[in-house]
Amino acid sequence: MTATDPVLEIRDLSVAFHSPAGAVQALRRVDLTARRGEIVGLVGESGSGKSTLALAATRLLPANAEIRSGTVAVCGQDVLSLPAAGLRQLRGQTVAMVFQDPMTSLNPVLSIGSQMIDIQYRDATLSRTGKRARVLAALERVGIPDAAQRLACHPHEFSGGMRQRIAIAMALLMNPALLIADEPTTALDVTLQAQIVHLLRRLRREIDGAILFVSHDLGLVAELCDRVVILYAGEVVEEGTVLDVFHTPRHPYTRMLLDCDPARIDVVSRTLPTIPGDLPDLVQPPSGCVFHPRCPRAEDRCRVEAPSWNAVSATRRARCHFAGEGA
Ligand SMILES: Nc1ncnc2c1ncn2[C@@H]1O[C@H](COP(=O)(O)OP(=O)(O)OP(=O)(O)O)[C@@H](O)[C@H]1O
Ligand SMILES: [Mg+2]
Repeated sequence: MTATDPVLEIRDLSVAFHSPAGAVQALRRVDLTARRGEIVGLVGESGSGKSTLALAATRLLPANAEIRSGTVAVCGQDVLSLPAAGLRQLRGQTVAMVFQDPMTSLNPVLSIGSQMIDIQYRDATLSRTGKRARVLAALERVGIPDAAQRLACHPHEFSGGMRQRIAIAMALLMNPALLIADEPTTALDVTLQAQIVHLLRRLRREIDGAILFVSHDLGLVAELCDRVVILYAGEVVEEGTVLDVFHTPRHPYTRMLLDCDPARIDVVSRTLPTIPGDLPDLVQPPSGCVFHPRCPRAEDRCRVEAPSWNAVSATRRARCHFAGEGA
């Protein structure tokens, strides 16, 4: 694989959840690419479909989910049609996941020592003692004190912040081609958040793959990511380099997120500011442009005609009829 080959390539992905109210169209025709050495930020309000995308990328969607269109490729492998053995291999070797709740990535019934040794099963050249030494080194790197004494402990014996560090240490040991981090700092207090961000930066230097970083936190995305994909109500509305998108947003939704009165940004959680209006009903998404009911610029055309991609530059595009007109 060359440096520019996509590690994750999602094309035209549509996912719906069956619910008593009807089919919730959580993702519609989504494209997303992450290349080696790149951190891609995925940003959007609560309910915009970020976790659905993260789960679809590893085929961990719940049973009521239906993939209605599209393809997901990880390192060129077609994830959606992989047989069970291939899927296990993908999750155990190629893709590491760090979730908001670190218990999701850890096995509650195994000691952290044994699960961290097990995750290195791929490395047949290393003895168990050698693997144990690597575990200790990884735990020390993420700042777990007295790691040697704590190998026999189970996940529930650690605090939330410690568990998140352990999940990241596991990701370090796997050296995955793709790391998916779904709001890894949201459940943590501000001090711990800063420590985890520091670790993610290091992870970025140390792993030889791509990182998909899902977050509410625009500040964090600006600090950590190379490119950003803005998701609104299940659709990608803008994407480009962090520099471009944050400095000169072209989609009215991105602009509203960034222009928002800073006093309204919650400084403690640093989550997205609230912009007027609610996400539309995903059982019956709006006609035309998905953002038109909340958009200050909407005209008649926007209510009937869905905008196609408007290429602002070679590396940036926005799905708005007016994106080519500048700010
Ligand atoms: N298992 C499910 N069954 C039915 N609907 C679901 C299910 N999981 C998610 N949804 C719906 O799909 C949409 C997208 O949800 P998703 O969890 O992907 O959003 P998100 O962007 O990750 O939000 P958050 O920032 O709160 O984590 C929402 O409308 C949500 O209610
Ligand atoms: Mg989520």
